[in-house]
Amino acid sequence: MYIMIQSETVIGSQSDLKPNTKNGVIILMSQVYKVFLHTYGCQMNLYDGELVGSLLQSGGFQLISQPEEADVILINTCAVRDHAEQRVLGRLRTLGALKSRHPQLVIGVLGCMAQRLGEDLKKQVPTVDLVLGPDSYRSLSGLLKDQLSGHHGYLIGCSGNPQETYGDVLPTRREGISAFVAIMRGCDNFCSYCVVPYARGRERSRPPDEVLAEIQSAVEDGFTEVVLLGQNVNSYHWESTDFATLLIAIAAGVKDLRRLRFMTSHPRDLSDKLIEVMAEGGIVCPSLHLPAQSGSDRILELMNRGYTVSQYLTKVEKLRARVESLALSTDLMCGFPTESETEFEQTLNLMRTARFDDAFTFKYSPRPGTKAARLKDDVPEEVKIERLERMIAVTRALADESRSRMIGQKVEALLENVSPREASEWTGRTRCGRVILVPGAFRRGDIVNLQVEAVRGFSLWGQVNESQIQVE
Ligand code: 5AD
Ligand code: SF4
Repeated sequence: MYIMIQSETVIGSQSDLKPNTKNGVIILMSQVYKVFLHTYGCQMNLYDGELVGSLLQSGGFQLISQPEEADVILINTCAVRDHAEQRVLGRLRTLGALKSRHPQLVIGVLGCMAQRLGEDLKKQVPTVDLVLGPDSYRSLSGLLKDQLSGHHGYLIGCSGNPQETYGDVLPTRREGISAFVAIMRGCDNFCSYCVVPYARGRERSRPPDEVLAEIQSAVEDGFTEVVLLGQNVNSYHWESTDFATLLIAIAAGVKDLRRLRFMTSHPRDLSDKLIEVMAEGGIVCPSLHLPAQSGSDRILELMNRGYTVSQYLTKVEKLRARVESLALSTDLMCGFPTESETEFEQTLNLMRTARFDDAFTFKYSPRPGTKAARLKDDVPEEVKIERLERMIAVTRALADESRSRMIGQKVEALLENVSPREASEWTGRTRCGRVILVPGAFRRGDIVNLQVEAVRGFSLWGQVNESQIQVE
């Protein structure tokens, strides 16, 4: 089935084919298998999807966008809330029906849910052929080849390399102007509600030179903006380089990068040094995602977050005082076990005091294996729903106020696409990350100076006062 040249490497279930064929292995398959990959979840998972795409292409597979034509369908999953897992299970059952019409179809599950459930996933959805966790993707091509050549039944690989960073794999990025670059993987925080440390393993950082090289390569491929990713970027460290130092090194060492963002920051680890780097500006954008989770000290302690509300607010005050035009977003949860009405109202108060520009709000969802799952999930579902609705209402009001405050301000917009609603307008983002609509004809990647004149729904609207087409 396979012709292999220039190497004696045996293609087996654990074959470890690095991209760029560094080891000199070139593999020609008599048939090029088509893979459809769909990713759910957070930015880190999207980035992992891009790594998987690269590993598969190096392994001789072709990525396609139509599941009906695929030999292999891979679902890259999220496990952070039960709802996310239920969606994946529904999707897998639908794919099972497709498989009954195409028995040769290989169905694989990747990502956090694969790692969390392992064998149990096969029990729940027998049509699944392959289950692979986030640290095991180097074996994916080899395992798929085994599957496709009929050598193996069900395969599972969830005991990957706990130090894996895929440092030598250049992701196959989607078209656009903004590239994700992971600077670390895993998490050591063990917030009591969170499945991530179990699904993604212990924290590990990538060396700065590797990060800089990946960013430079993204810029050379036409990306203007880079978003650095990590579960807790503030605990990034490599020898004497901490996160703030890494930002300085990127700003100094990468040529032609226009904008640098990062996520996610843990409030406990956000340093004064980082605030000063953000205050300096330059390519570091004034947008920060700083999950607060709750406005109650007792609930924060139960969550094992490592800060109090007043410590959180002190950081917010420093940020607002030092970083001009900062857009601050957050994650908040309601209905954590034992949360009282008064404690929930403290979360609403925190939202107003911190004046969040945006917030992602969630109902607590117990995750098996976490510390919080041992507590009784005692806030009734209807109370959780009602609290969530109140958080959403406050979020909307704060976001509306935040956008209205921008009217009259001069901003710089990086233009991304023709507006889907109005062909004579382009959509872009301000440096603080807000969506802005701009009338006129432009090219993707143009950077223009604007005056914000109005708010249109969830977007700003502005006119060009001086345009500077980006120097290539
Ligand atoms: N239930 C509800 N929300 C959760 N999050 C993480 N774990 C849970 C859970 N078990 C939220 C947190 C986190 C965001 C990514 O998802 O707010 O910051
Ligand atoms: Fe989960 Fe906390 Fe780690 Fe974020 S910092 S991924 S909430 S354990």
